[in-house]
Amino acid sequence: METADPLDELLTCRLDVGRHQVEPCSIVIFGASGDLTARKLIPALYHLHASKQLPDPVRIIGFARRPKPNDAWREELKSGVETFSRTKRVDPKVWAGFAANLVYCQGEFGDPDAYARLAKLIAGFGHEPLRRNLLFYLATAPAQFAEVAGHLSSARLLRRDEPGAGWQRLVVEKPFGTDLASAQQLNSELTRFAHEKQIYRIDHYLGKETVQNILMFRFSNAIFERLWNREAVDHVQLTVSERLGVGTRGAFYEGAGALRDMVQNHLLQVMALVAMEPPVSLEAEAVRDEKVKLLKSIRRWDPSQVPAAVVRGQYLEGEVDGQPRVAYRQESRVSPGSNMETFVAAKFLVDNWRWSGVPFYLRTGKNLPLSASEVRVQFRPTPNVLFAAQCGPKLDANAITLRLPPNEGITLRFNGKIPGTSMQIRPVRMHFSYDAEFGAYTPEAYERLLLEAIEGDATLFIRRDEVEVAWSIVDPIRSAWANQPLGASEFYAAGTWGPQAVDGLLSARGHAWRNPQPTA
Ligand SMILES: NC(=O)c1ccc[n+]([C@@H]2O[C@H](COP(=O)([O-])OP(=O)(O)OC[C@H]3O[C@@H](n4cnc5c(N)ncnc54)[C@H](OP(=O)(O)O)[C@@H]3O)[C@@H](O)[C@H]2O)c1
Repeated sequence: METADPLDELLTCRLDVGRHQVEPCSIVIFGASGDLTARKLIPALYHLHASKQLPDPVRIIGFARRPKPNDAWREELKSGVETFSRTKRVDPKVWAGFAANLVYCQGEFGDPDAYARLAKLIAGFGHEPLRRNLLFYLATAPAQFAEVAGHLSSARLLRRDEPGAGWQRLVVEKPFGTDLASAQQLNSELTRFAHEKQIYRIDHYLGKETVQNILMFRFSNAIFERLWNREAVDHVQLTVSERLGVGTRGAFYEGAGALRDMVQNHLLQVMALVAMEPPVSLEAEAVRDEKVKLLKSIRRWDPSQVPAAVVRGQYLEGEVDGQPRVAYRQESRVSPGSNMETFVAAKFLVDNWRWSGVPFYLRTGKNLPLSASEVRVQFRPTPNVLFAAQCGPKLDANAITLRLPPNEGITLRFNGKIPGTSMQIRPVRMHFSYDAEFGAYTPEAYERLLLEAIEGDATLFIRRDEVEVAWSIVDPIRSAWANQPLGASEFYAAGTWGPQAVDGLLSARGHAWRNPQPTA
């Protein structure tokens, strides 16, 4: 691999010098014995501790129903880090330092006495900022968010609009509502107890390195941004594919489906970053204002327009990578007659100056041939003279692909002459790979998000209006499907790229899906 030019090192620009300080604080995790805590939150906090990025001092309090001594909880978490963390390895010395900050608090979410015990525990911390700076992480079912926030407020642990020393913040997990009405209701319940500025709605996609890189790529490179509009771009394809089926999450998935689980949040968030106007600054509100503006300018499909603009699908049995897969309806805790979609492909139009007439095709699904997340910006073809006149559709149009984890990088596709005496032309690719350039280390999304919540930087979290406008885009699609059983053409074999109708969505305008490619 080529080594970096020393000048490149000199040109590295640090944007985080003016970052908020990490002040000592107490982090309370509600749902402390759950899957999310073991799989994501504690591994992320452990790595932040190991890299000395957590505040010092800090306390991490686990709140859940089952009684257990501190030591038992710590052991549980340690084996979680060994199983799920990105390094898997736990350094005993580092763990000992980390574990000393972990305290378990047993309680029922609905029991006021449990919050009194929590308040007493926090009041007993010797260092004052540990008592006044409080991050409450709600790793609970969404139906429990408001209940927990209400009790925290009654126990005076969470204070809304009370100026004074210290801060309190609520981090809430997805799903945030199941439709616009439920999201609005949840927002009004939460904002009774906490100011909007105190609420951090997580979409872990936004913590991924390359998602943030979309902003840097667009707004720090003059050559691309001036092509980023309807004059140069023909259409955009956004694919988030998963090789796995629903596995053990059948019960959850039966109440969600691909539209709610993926499109309403992750895919629309990525689309907003790809298509939004440049914000006036990198401040959280400036970035979020632009995302909201973009989401608002996505044309809403009337339920009667949905069949022509959105394709849903459900997987049948098949094979992925030579491994047999059962049909969705045969998965555990899934109804044998379920009409839940495991695949969605949608065409969206953006009614603003920059993107007028440029289709954005979004698709996501389970049991697809490979796991990939990528945005392909497909440019317009050259005028129909010279090579285009001779080659016709064989002359590929240029494209830039922004690949998100698990295979981060950027690929520019253009045409080149095949060397030799004959005149042959074919597409070639220019690859930029994060791993090759910077090494394999990329922090987990939750590391970044937890740190930003501790710092009080809300840029990567979803604002109230953002979550609501995203629901207003997907709700009409849901209602078009309500009470409509899946038709035979809406099923796809596991291991394929979705039902056949998905091609028609693009071919109507002379476009074709470009499937993500496996990379070495
Ligand atoms: N798991 C993931 O990877 C993931 C990813 C994205 C989002 N999420 C979201 O994160 C949230 C949590 O998911 P999860 O998978 O961690 O759930 P989970 O494994 O079912 O854990 C639920 C936790 O909540 C506690 N709990 C439930 N009811 C309680 C009550 N009445 N009083 C006190 N504690 C109670 C449980 O404590 P006991 O064990 O003591 O009963 C347990 O610690 C959900 O909203 C989910 O949608 C999860």
